[in-house]
Order: sequence, then C-alpha cells, then structure tokens
Amino acid sequence: MTEKVKGNERFNEEAASWDSNPSVHEASSLALKSILSHYPQLKEPNHLDVLEIGCGTGLLSFGIASYVRSLTAVDQAEGVIDAFNIKLAAQPDIRNILPVCAELSDPNDERIRVDPLSRDQLQNLTPRKFDLILSHLVLHHIPSLEETFEVMYGCLKKGGKVALTDFEDFGPEARRFHPEAKMDGVMRHGIRREEVGKMLEGAEFVNVMVETAFEMEKWVEASPGAGVIKGEGGAKMKFPFLICMGRKEGDC
Ligand SMILES: C[S@@+](CC[C@H](N)C(=O)[O-])C[C@H]1O[C@@H](n2cnc3c(N)ncnc32)[C@H](O)[C@@H]1O
Repeated sequence: MTEKVKGNERFNEEAASWDSNPSVHEASSLALKSILSHYPQLKEPNHLDVLEIGCGTGLLSFGIASYVRSLTAVDQAEGVIDAFNIKLAAQPDIRNILPVCAELSDPNDERIRVDPLSRDQLQNLTPRKFDLILSHLVLHHIPSLEETFEVMYGCLKKGGKVALTDFEDFGPEARRFHPEAKMDGVMRHGIRREEVGKMLEGAEFVNVMVETAFEMEKWVEASPGAGVIKGEGGAKMKFPFLICMGRKEGDC
C-alpha cells in the first residue's frame, strides 16, 4: 500500500471527528490571521478567486470565504470532502465555495474549471486560473513538493500568489507534532524555510518569502507511542509555523 493511500485512509477515518480537536481550530484561526495580514488585498471588496489545496473539513475555507469572490476547495480524501459538504449544506447563505475531491497533478484539471458562483455552466469550460492559492497543514503530507509547486504555478493567473502555511521543521523535536500512531501519510516533520524557498524559486515563483507566521502550543506524547494525554500528566510543546509566499510573474 502506498503512503498516499494510507494517508487518505487516515483522513477518511478522522473526517467526522476532525473538528472536535481544538488545536486544529486554533491552527486554522492563526493561519487565517497571518494570511490576512500578509495579503491585505483580501480585505478589499471580494474580488479574488482562490484555490485551496488540502482543505480538509474546511476550517480555513469557511474562515476565508467571506473575504474572497470564490473559493475552490480541493482535497484528495473523499471522507473529508463529504464532511465539508455536510457543513456547507447547513449554511445555505454561503454560495461561493465549491468543494472538489481531487489530487491535482494537472493545472488544467477539468474538476477545478467550474466557477463556484455559476455551477450550472458545466459544459465546454476553459481552464480556470486563480488569484491566490492557499494550503494549510498540507505540505508535510505531500511526497514531491517540487511537483506540487509546479502545479500551483500553473493554476495561477499572471501576478497570482501563493500563501502556504505549515509547521516548521526546526530539528528532531519537530517529529513530536504527530503522535507515533498518526505518522501514516506524514512525508516530513514540518517544512524547512530555506528548502521550501528554493523549491518555490525552482518552480519559477518570484518575490519568494518564507517567514514565521505564528507559534502554537500543542499537546504531544510525553514519550514516543505513549499517546497524547491532554491535562495532568500530559506534555505540551510550542511549534513554529511558517508562511511561504511567492508570485507568478506578470500583472493580474
Ligand atoms: C492535516 S490535514 C489539514 C486539513 C485542513 N487544511 C485543516 O487544517 O484542517 C491535511 C489534508 O490535506 C489533504 N491532502 C494531502 N495531500 C493532498 C494533495 N496532494 N492534494 C489534495 N489534498 C491533499 C489530506 O487529505 C488532508 O485532508
């Protein structure tokens, strides 16, 4: 069984309970705050078409939706897209999000051509390009970041940007971000700022910047495999998160 399929199984299994973990809510709120402070244009009247890769159950997606014209929210795990759709159906006023179950390997993928605001126009669609690509807590699951950054580049309009957030690999202790039982699909223990910066440049992005976005305290296993105890007898650690930014050359 490949790492990717095992990772999908993990997210399909966890989909229904994902939102009951306070630390994933906290990480998404902090990521949203960081994205809004680095991309003030999001606060102008909603005109941006945004693609989110690895949306999960939509914790960041539902937060960002009110700042954008449209949000195409992609995830490769069917179970999390089902959970996303249930949440979306319960909020009929939100009309600008389209969840899509896909692992993108082609920027011209037909599944992301549909404009969330005009879902009935399903025929003869030309490739759709985006102003901004987001991805939160996903890069550490992706086997080839080089390939994914090339796909992201191909999905952007000229002048379009990426804002990718994930925890930092600050050394061997970064492994403790995940309990030992949840390592399926974990390709790296966080991202490294210089490495990701070079990879974004290698994919032709300009104005590349990788900065500390925020720091978050999280319950961890006191010893490998001991399980996470939240409260007395448990252990907590602070994890730095990075925001990785870059622009596709040209004007929007
Ligand atoms: C740790 S979860 C984060 C979900 C969400 N962003 C959040 O913060 O709650 C990682 C998600 O990325 C998805 N994922 C991993 N690799 C992906 C890829 N190449 N394309 C689309 N989704 C991917 C997984 O299925 C999973 O739902």
